[in-house]
Amino acid sequence: MTAEFPTARLRRLRQSPAWRRLARETRPQAAQLVLPLFVREDSAEPVPISSMPGVVQHSLDSLKAELNRAAAAGIGGVMLFGVPTRKDAQGSGATDPDGILNVATRVAVAEVGDALVVQTDLCLDEFTDHGHCGVLDAQGRVDNDASLERYRDMALAQAEAGSALLGLSGMMDGQTAVVRAALDGAGRSDVAILGYAAKYASAFYGPFREAVQSSLEGDRRTYQLDPANRREGAREVAFDVAEGADVVMVKPAMSYLDVLADAAASSPVPVWAYQVSGEYAMIEAAAAHGWIDRDRAVEESVVSIFRAGADAVLTYWALELAERWNR
Ligand code: PBG
Repeated sequence: MTAEFPTARLRRLRQSPAWRRLARETRPQAAQLVLPLFVREDSAEPVPISSMPGVVQHSLDSLKAELNRAAAAGIGGVMLFGVPTRKDAQGSGATDPDGILNVATRVAVAEVGDALVVQTDLCLDEFTDHGHCGVLDAQGRVDNDASLERYRDMALAQAEAGSALLGLSGMMDGQTAVVRAALDGAGRSDVAILGYAAKYASAFYGPFREAVQSSLEGDRRTYQLDPANRREGAREVAFDVAEGADVVMVKPAMSYLDVLADAAASSPVPVWAYQVSGEYAMIEAAAAHGWIDRDRAVEESVVSIFRAGADAVLTYWALELAERWNR
């Protein structure tokens, strides 16, 4: 009779808050969070992003305030994105020392450079009038090698502005090797590279396009990965590591936890994940309708990314979570 009852009792470790606290396997810290920040050129006031409630395009003044709050919360770093007023085919603003991203980087480094790792998005899409992550050839196709030359110049401009970690998110072949060689050639072996190794052509970047006022028509499927491909994600990670990436990224996060777990198992360098704008918007929107418990959903979503193997997570909730975890 008693043999019908289980001898293994998994509920034992779940029976009280004290037990659950002790038995918890994943314990992310504020220092493992990176906050993406948008900085708008020529703006005296922060401008709300309607598809990302709670997130704004910062003015330089509101950026400073947010950076100080981030430093006080003890997060690991910030990832800066520029929202320029003028765009052109080459994305000139990206390499202009007075372009908004380079200006914002200098401001951030001066303000919190000792406390936070100040990182910059190294991609042309915020700066091109066609909205692509590279420059176009005569047929209107994204030209890989011509884009590499722009990334090389952009890397040097960002290093000069003081960025500690360049986020190579353009998905051109060979970008990590080209940027590493350019930095080393310029005597900037101190500047690190975050390779967006496995970056998928995702619908979840939708709200980001509003955040940076992207003029993209069409899509990025000739350079970002097909969401159906797992093995190819692992291959991209291996290439970025071989080309000298200091950290590799998987992006988006929640729908790509298998890719993340693969990378975490195989990568000799840290693996980070980017919980992107659409992931943020989905949870905020459902919570605004009262359909899910917002605070629990936010935490569960981020903990799941760490559980899958991320060493750090870029998330628009970085400050909120850090302040919650520090309490
Ligand atoms: C490219 C870039 C994008 C994001 C970060 N870097 C957009 C894209 O590739 O389409 C998306 C981030 C997000 O959705 O939160 N500069």
